[in-house]
Amino acid sequence: MKLWGGRFETGPSAVFERFSGSLHFDRRLLAADVRGSQAFARALERAGILNADERGRIVEAFDSILAESRSASFYEGATDEDIHTLVIRKLKEHAGAVADKIHTGRSRNEQVSLDTRLWLRDEIDRTSELLADWMSALLDLANRHPNAVIPGYTHLRRAQAVLWPHYLLAYFEMFARDAERFADARRRTNVLPLGSGALAGSGFPFDRHAIAQDLGFESISLNSMDVSADRDFALDFLYAASTTMLHLSRVAEDWILYSSEEFGWMELGDGVTSGSSLMPQKKNPDSLELIRGKSGRVTGCLYSLMMTVKGLPLTYNRDMQEDKEPLFDAADQLAGSLQMARAVAESVTLRVDVPLAAAAQSWVVATDLAEALARAGTPFHQAHQLVGRLVLESTRSGKVPADWNAASLSRFAPEFTPDIARLLDPLEGMKSREIPGGTGPQAVAEALAEAGRRLERMRP
Ligand code: ARG
Repeated sequence: MKLWGGRFETGPSAVFERFSGSLHFDRRLLAADVRGSQAFARALERAGILNADERGRIVEAFDSILAESRSASFYEGATDEDIHTLVIRKLKEHAGAVADKIHTGRSRNEQVSLDTRLWLRDEIDRTSELLADWMSALLDLANRHPNAVIPGYTHLRRAQAVLWPHYLLAYFEMFARDAERFADARRRTNVLPLGSGALAGSGFPFDRHAIAQDLGFESISLNSMDVSADRDFALDFLYAASTTMLHLSRVAEDWILYSSEEFGWMELGDGVTSGSSLMPQKKNPDSLELIRGKSGRVTGCLYSLMMTVKGLPLTYNRDMQEDKEPLFDAADQLAGSLQMARAVAESVTLRVDVPLAAAAQSWVVATDLAEALARAGTPFHQAHQLVGRLVLESTRSGKVPADWNAASLSRFAPEFTPDIARLLDPLEGMKSREIPGGTGPQAVAEALAEAGRRLERMRP
């Protein structure tokens, strides 16, 4: 079936039909299309186009269509151009001639925006829940080893000792911002486009606020041309999805490294790793590698839609049909990655002795020593030089911090008093970092507890 045809002498060619049809992917909007059309039938009644009986028959027919759509044969043999066309054909089959009135004063241009917004609103809610589940798994992993110490890195070189929960809370903050981005994207998605017509505004006096209320939209769009031309609500979601995937990708990269033989801190569960067909000893972090890989794919979806919209003359152009596949794909890959990451976090065991030894064997205490000297009155630049010389001397003679003690340190330089020598233990230096946001044990315990409360508030 077609929703047009009067001005054509022949129908579309087979190659054009094949090329332009979108039913194979936009069928995903069926439930949204039905819901939007039921609300529109009620709007038509309020505008005096349908009587109560006609509206009742149409709304009921839509209910049966939705129920039928769950059967495997629903799409069998369908050659409709898109989901909106298919739904109207089915409506005619169910409700008869009255179905011809359903498209009064409505355009597919606004309908496609409406359906996408309804679909995306639900998808954002689902994503936000999966995101909260993943963040909760991060907190559980922090709480399993609240006192573990790891070397923090810059340039992938051991930098300063931090608490394991402090490291995980860094990611918690990134994902908390992602959650805000999704909430923001939801707010911009949650706007009623209906009433805009094809581009100039509907020619029928619909009460747009009543339709908005019916469909749970917070507000109505303010310009009909904007509705037909705009896809930035979808871009907002894709940006939030891409940023979340980038963050997941960084977690994945960290944990691929930390679980390698070279680091050896972490053991990933058997359930989230795979073996090699040739090398019997292998236990590979494929789950994390796929998350990292999919982050490229989701970011590609963002660019895909940005490039589609760039340079389109106002208002609707058929190019815009290309919005859906990247949108659907990004949503699916993100949901899958959040679930996967959560399962990995639940499977992880930290071998706490290994990162602690890594911290102890390197000079992650150097900054603690220099800052202690500065607190005791040595100008920081001189303190930095002095500790630098201590590290150089140690590196030459193969000494680690534990090979020094109060006596040998003060022989090296009298500025190193016995209380400064205590800082040769990486656990001691952290105690000087009780500043809010720092890795001081007290500050971290408070941040961890507060993160749990923040997560509870994020849940609907
Ligand atoms: N399938 C189309 C889309 O997704 C629906 C809108 C078609 N409108 C049109 N004027 N051809 O964009």
